[in-house]
Amino acid sequence: MVISTRERASELTHPVRQAYDRLADEYDTRWRRYIDASVQMALEAVELQGGERVLDLGCGTGQLEARLLARWPQLQITGVDVSPEMLNQALAMRLPVRWLAGEAAALPLADARFDVVACLSAFHYFRQPRAALAEMRRVLRPQGQLIVVDWCDDYLTCKLCSAWLQLTDPAFYKTYSLTECQAELQRAGFQVISAARCRIGWLWGMMRLVCRAE
Ligand SMILES: C[S@@+](CC[C@H](N)C(=O)[O-])C[C@H]1O[C@@H](n2cnc3c(N)ncnc32)[C@H](O)[C@@H]1O
Repeated sequence: MVISTRERASELTHPVRQAYDRLADEYDTRWRRYIDASVQMALEAVELQGGERVLDLGCGTGQLEARLLARWPQLQITGVDVSPEMLNQALAMRLPVRWLAGEAAALPLADARFDVVACLSAFHYFRQPRAALAEMRRVLRPQGQLIVVDWCDDYLTCKLCSAWLQLTDPAFYKTYSLTECQAELQRAGFQVISAARCRIGWLWGMMRLVCRAE
C-alpha cells in the first residue's frame, strides 16, 4: 500500500515528482541497461544474511527490490520515493515490500529501524542533501550499512551532462565528485568503507560509496 506522508502537501509542486510521474510508464524500458548496471553495483556491495530490514531511498520502480528479493526472499524492505507514479509501477510487481510516498529530507520512519539503507541514482536530485543524509543516518542502526550509487562529477561526460541538465531540467539538482560525496557522508556521521568509480557505457560515470553508521 502507498501511504502518504506528512510532507505530501508540499510535494505537490515538487519538480522531481512531476518529472518522474511523467516518466514512470517508460522508465524501466528507457533506462534498462543503466538500471541493470547500477543495481548490480549495489548488489555487489550489500552485506545481507536474509532477514534484515532494508530501506531503498528514491526506490523508483522497485528494480533493486525485485533483485534483492529474488536472492533473499525473507528481507523486510521499505521503498520510499517522492513520485507516486514511480511507486505505482513498483506496486504492480506485487512484491512483499512496504512502499511509501515520502521525501528524503523528512522520512516518515522510526530511528535506527534499518540494517541497510540504499540510495541509487537519486542523491543528485536531493534539494536538501545534508538533511537527507541526516535522515539516512537517523533511520540506520549503529554499524548499519549505507550504499550510495550515483553519477560522479569526476568524469568529464558527467560534468557536461550535469551542466546541461542544470540549464534545461528543473528536476535536476547537483552531482558530486567522489571526494565531495565522501566528505558529505563523513560529515553526516558515516565511516566510508569503500569509495569507487566506474563507467556505465561511454556516458555515465558512476560512483559507489559503501559506509557504516558510526
Ligand atoms: C533515477 S531514479 C532512480 C530510481 C531507482 N533508485 C533506480 O535505481 O532505478 C531517481 C528516483 O529518485 C526519486 N527522488 C528524487 N528526489 C527524491 C526525494 N527528495 N525524496 C524521495 N525520492 C526522490 C525520484 O522520484 C526517482 O524515482
